Amino acid sequence: MNGSLDKRLLSCADYVRAGAVFADIGTDHGYLPIFLLKAARIDRAYLSDVNPGPLSSAERNAAAEGLSDRCEFILTDGAAALSGKGITDYAICGMGGELIARIIEDAPHLKDGSVRLILQPMTKQEHLRHYLALAGFRIICERFSFDSGKYYVTMVAEYSGECRELSDEEAELGPDFPHEGDRVEYLGFLEGKRKAARKALTGKSAGGYETVREEERIGIIEKRIAKLTGA
Ligand SMILES: C[S@@+](CC[C@H](N)C(=O)[O-])C[C@H]1O[C@@H](n2cnc3c(N)ncnc32)[C@H](O)[C@@H]1O
Repeated sequence: MNGSLDKRLLSCADYVRAGAVFADIGTDHGYLPIFLLKAARIDRAYLSDVNPGPLSSAERNAAAEGLSDRCEFILTDGAAALSGKGITDYAICGMGGELIARIIEDAPHLKDGSVRLILQPMTKQEHLRHYLALAGFRIICERFSFDSGKYYVTMVAEYSGECRELSDEEAELGPDFPHEGDRVEYLGFLEGKRKAARKALTGKSAGGYETVREEERIGIIEKRIAKLTGA
């Protein structure tokens, strides 16, 4: 690590509050907490992973930066074992949306309005949005980033206790309007969704199947694209 983070992880780092007691669940290489410690944004960090190999890699990387005494390394599944440590900000990044939802569900102490979750699901973003809304978490901000040829979504969520059901559109496409700084990335994300939906439509139509749902989906995505581009 050269003191800097890739764009994907930087979009998570931006949302860790200054002075937070920070935990990185599924830390792997530990780049995110190491970056935050080096930038003096936090004083200490908990680095956890369910697998010993990745956790050792985080330990080595922290040691190489002289940060071992400011890190606690925990071999554990999810976030439940980190309860009672006064952690205010959790990152759960680089995993599937279903796994992230399961990790949150299994750690009831995360249902606390003072705790912030910074989530970056690699897949099944719609599942995670549905879960968060139903479980009483509010997504306070979503960011779209583009890194090494891929679009990433970062969600910042806090517990409000207000449970609601999202429409499929909200769950799949996220906020109706992106963060002002992310228009280009959000447009690329929507175009990717449109391409996938068109491919599904072509496949179904070639097989002689009903395509009403795919047509509707494309229409919804195109409406969002038009709203964004003013076309
Ligand atoms: C692809 S890496 C992501 C690393 C880093 N968070 C990032 O975004 O760059 C996923 C990591 O999550 C860990 N992991 C998978 N399931 C987990 C679980 N249930 N609890 C904790 N860590 C888990 C894996 O061992 C792996 O190190």
